[in-house]
Amino acid sequence: MAETFTVTTGRGGEEILVQELRRMGLQRVVPEHGAVRFLGSLRDGLRACLWSRTGSRVLLRLARFDAGNAEALYDGVAAIPWTDHVSPSGTLRVDFVGSSRTIRDERFGALKTKDAVVDSIRARAGRRPDVARDEPDVVINVHLRNNVATVSLDLSGEALHLRTPGRRAGATPLKENLAARMLLLADWPRRARAGEPFVDPMCGSGTIVLEAAGIALDLAPGLARSRFGFTRWLGRDDAVWSSLVAEAKERRRAAAGRSFVIRGSDIDARAVAAARENAKALGLASAVRFERASLEDLRPPDERAGLLVTNPPYGERVDTIEAAAALYKTLGDVLRQRMLGWDAFVLAPAGRLAKALGLRPSARHILFNGPLECRLLEVAISPTAPGRLVRSPPNPAS
Ligand SMILES: C[S@@+](CC[C@H](N)C(=O)[O-])C[C@H]1O[C@@H](n2cnc3c(N)ncnc32)[C@H](O)[C@@H]1O
Repeated sequence: MAETFTVTTGRGGEEILVQELRRMGLQRVVPEHGAVRFLGSLRDGLRACLWSRTGSRVLLRLARFDAGNAEALYDGVAAIPWTDHVSPSGTLRVDFVGSSRTIRDERFGALKTKDAVVDSIRARAGRRPDVARDEPDVVINVHLRNNVATVSLDLSGEALHLRTPGRRAGATPLKENLAARMLLLADWPRRARAGEPFVDPMCGSGTIVLEAAGIALDLAPGLARSRFGFTRWLGRDDAVWSSLVAEAKERRRAAAGRSFVIRGSDIDARAVAAARENAKALGLASAVRFERASLEDLRPPDERAGLLVTNPPYGERVDTIEAAAALYKTLGDVLRQRMLGWDAFVLAPAGRLAKALGLRPSARHILFNGPLECRLLEVAISPTAPGRLVRSPPNPAS
């Protein structure tokens, strides 16, 4: 029987996640609000845990029922055969999202759910599991909307973007799944196969560059994680997971011979050191090059034109917005003067910074960086399309 899985994602990330899951061969994939649903086997759900770059959590649906009030929620949760999922001597956590007229507080919803789970296990087994916030054996996810409760097991446990062991973060790191979303919007998987070079000239701790290298080298994003939400789940299938991991290692080995030009640079030496450490932690140190350099000194790393994807400083505070605007202007100038033929994708907060670039984007993709609404500006640096330039070329007479 096919199971129902929900993969959560950031706001606006649904369509790109639908494409990502379909490319994995998953079936009956449909977008929902902030998530994507698909039907499949447990193997398919575990495949999504191992391979999804843009997803956040993979939830396996256990039950869906009317929960107009707290008693209905309790009864619906208690009817699930919990001893199939968690040991009476184990640990659990409940993540509760949503509300209704009678269940207004998520903490109350989580408490009711937890009571129903532990009471039903105690009634069957004579003892009950404990609650653990960190690293519980199972994470139970409840989503309450329009008086309907959906109860799921969180197969990811920690969110899937947490995939770099001991990650060293710069001042304002992007989440890995947002970086991946940018790269998929920029069509990087196809470009990588075509051998295009890649550059991020304001790479910080290297998130975009390392996602780009992971995609190019067919590295399953979950391969470096030691723990998922299913690791101590009683219903797990170790043989299926081992075969998926073996397949992922084989794909990585098969891609090891491919060579790419994938570069990151940043003006901040500490950020560059962090990026190098992160590359090592992911086994990608020999696939990428990070160096300390200013944007002003950017040169194409290869004679072929390629893809530049970057996330300049936001300049959120009044005292930094002018500096950020000046940096955008420099980026526009550098692109126009030295990166002809390249395609650039620049993540900018919605508002006036984008104008400071001085190049007219051919597309603006709406993305959210946490709560902050952003635009991924798509700019073709084309000598044959001078109409794209917003600023006039310099007047030779002046
Ligand atoms: C928003 S952060 C990038 C974060 C990065 N995407 C990550 O995930 O870690 C912007 C970066 O631009 C760098 N930067 C600022 N001015 C620069 C300049 N003139 N040349 C190169 N890098 C610069 C900063 O040091 C900072 O690391």
